[in-house]
Amino acid sequence: MLTIAVSKGRIYEEALPLLEEAGIRPVDDPKTSRKLILQTTRDDVQLVIIRATDVPTFVEYGAADMGIAGKDVLLEHGAESLYEPLDLNIATCRLMTAAHKDAPDISRRVRVATKYVKTAKKYFAELGIQADIIKLYGSMELAPLVGLADCIVDLVDTGNTLKANGLEPRDLIMNISSRLVVNKAAMKMKHQAIQSLLDQFEKTLAKR
Ligand code: ATP
Ligand code: PRP
Ligand code: MG
Repeated sequence: MLTIAVSKGRIYEEALPLLEEAGIRPVDDPKTSRKLILQTTRDDVQLVIIRATDVPTFVEYGAADMGIAGKDVLLEHGAESLYEPLDLNIATCRLMTAAHKDAPDISRRVRVATKYVKTAKKYFAELGIQADIIKLYGSMELAPLVGLADCIVDLVDTGNTLKANGLEPRDLIMNISSRLVVNKAAMKMKHQAIQSLLDQFEKTLAKR
């Protein structure tokens, strides 16, 4: 049995066509079902539905053989303990700094609100900017509006969320997409099954 960890929402939606090409169609729809383990049309493959930030943890400990996770999440988790064999090119966006449109450029010291604490620390350290990081779990865009922070580090796609809150994108930290990650032991123990799935995904991606 191969267990694949995916998060509900955009990753699941965008991964579905890839999975389908490999003959994997979940029997229940996670939008309507409360089940956390989904059987699929392949008896040797099941999906576990978890929070996006938990995917690397499940895969690292072997609770799932493989998973699909955003590069933002992998950077923050530290991905040395996982194989990352494939860029699936789904859920693409940018990790950026953003600030109020009238705010001055970032200087030597800055207060940053983000859920990407490790990544933000590293980014500002490399620029020689002293950053006081405030950890948030969401709605980062609010922080500059209420004086909690000078800027944020968050994901930007269309830019609509920033715009709707009077913020503007400033500097690109990294282009983000979702990656296939594989547990290291599973890669050895279940090599054939995993490799053939990797080949399938690769074939589908090459056609895009
Ligand atoms: P939760 O809703 O459980 O708190 P989440 O907000 O991280 O988690 P999603 O919004 O589904 O869950 O994001 C999952 C992944 O999709 C992110 O890690 C990122 O890689 C990517 N992503 C997030 N927001 C966007 C976006 N607006 N456009 C494109 N990709 C995105
Ligand atoms: C994500 C991200 C940004 C927004 C960026 O939020 O955290 O807020 O998308 O996308 P945009 O540039 O197209 O506006 P999401 O929609 O996932 O909501 P969430 O707060 O529930 O994570
Ligand atoms: Mg989100």
